[in-house]
Amino acid sequence: MDKIVVEGGRQLNGEVRISGAKNAALPILAASLLTDGTNTYRNVPRLHDIASIRELLAYLGARVETDEDHVIRIKANGLCQTEAPYDLVRKMRASILVLGPLLARLGKARVSLPGGCAIGARPINLHLKGLARMGASIELTHGYVEATADRLKGDDFYLDVPTVTGTENLMMAAVLARGTTILRNVAREPEIVALADALNRMGARISGAGSSVLTIHGVDALTPADISIIPDRIEAGTFMVASALTGGDVTVLNCEPDHMGAMLNKLRLTGARITVKGRSVRVQGPEKITSVDIKTLPYPGFPTDMQAQFMVLMSVARGLSIISETIFENRFIHVSELRRLGADITVSGNAAMIKGVDHLSGAPVMATDLRASASLILAGLVAEGQTVINRVYHLDRGYEAIEDKFARLGAAVQRVR
Ligand code: EPU
Repeated sequence: MDKIVVEGGRQLNGEVRISGAKNAALPILAASLLTDGTNTYRNVPRLHDIASIRELLAYLGARVETDEDHVIRIKANGLCQTEAPYDLVRKMRASILVLGPLLARLGKARVSLPGGCAIGARPINLHLKGLARMGASIELTHGYVEATADRLKGDDFYLDVPTVTGTENLMMAAVLARGTTILRNVAREPEIVALADALNRMGARISGAGSSVLTIHGVDALTPADISIIPDRIEAGTFMVASALTGGDVTVLNCEPDHMGAMLNKLRLTGARITVKGRSVRVQGPEKITSVDIKTLPYPGFPTDMQAQFMVLMSVARGLSIISETIFENRFIHVSELRRLGADITVSGNAAMIKGVDHLSGAPVMATDLRASASLILAGLVAEGQTVINRVYHLDRGYEAIEDKFARLGAAVQRVR
């Protein structure tokens, strides 16, 4: 199995180009199931999670082709399956995103129930309640969700929690429903806006994306579209933290600064100098990092997907910081690995108290979650000596060519096969 080996102590300098967003691409590719012509998707990142959704769409009978760099074409006529089997969903829980589109298009779907994962229990009760509200009959048997509906009908549904993939599933189900659906307390992440934009280009009638209420007037059919995937704000944030952490000077290109307000604000408070110019952000690291407190929240709050990376920054900051995780109940799996590198972190409930230390020291580490693994590379960049990150497949799920991008910025980061 591959490993990433990092020799710490190098300052990062230069430019890095950000790839398309994994969490925008996954629902938008799943939305191909709603049309029967050929959809073209550009700026699709090359990631294992994208390979997983492609595999699932192909299994369902869609034709999936790649003929240009980062471009995927998907034609979903002649779908022959309504089931997303355990082996595919097990690999990637976002496979649940085919539930809404399959039900809307074919009137039935059988999707393996995703279990919990390393970061929390991650129920899908709101996906199911929303679909039931639109008239679907839902049964849970043998580890599968079985949903059927002749044609979904619009209704008014309040989400107890603004779930991201839940909002996406319900939006994709509602676009072909009879009548108008109003979804309240929905997620407001940029990936939700991107999906609504993509669906509207296919002929859907969705308004309110980016606010907490979505109004969706159902239409009889959608037509294929040509869609470009928005930049990955979490990948961008990870490189921005890397620059601040190493006292470097990195310009992050092809990103969307408007999607990163909370992160940029916090980064500024650490003493980093931030210069935003159009679609690029230059981050100049401070001489000494100042501690800041962080609380993860739904967008536009601070993203849980950046919590682990900021914790590394706080591990070598001046002073004490408190990081509270309010989205997932178990998203501190990186803490014990960071402690192995010498970080001084105490966890109590959903809060971590981090006392900045003068230096970290390299060691072998591993993590069972994508963002936690990214945080370990960051820690390796400032640790003395060598840090070896095992279980690299987590990184490959969500960061395109991460070691090459770091190496081009001057980091000593290498993949060992
Ligand atoms: N929740 C419920 N009921 C539901 C659904 C969610 O109670 O039916 C709760 C969850 O347990 C959690 C909270 O709602 O406490 C938020 O979870 P959400 O459903 O929003 O998460 P998700 O849709 O499963 C997406 C991203 C995650 C990201 C979260 C939060 C995708 C494919 N995944 O997950 O990304 O952390 O939103 O922003 O979009 C990652 O990329 O590393 C990643 C984990």
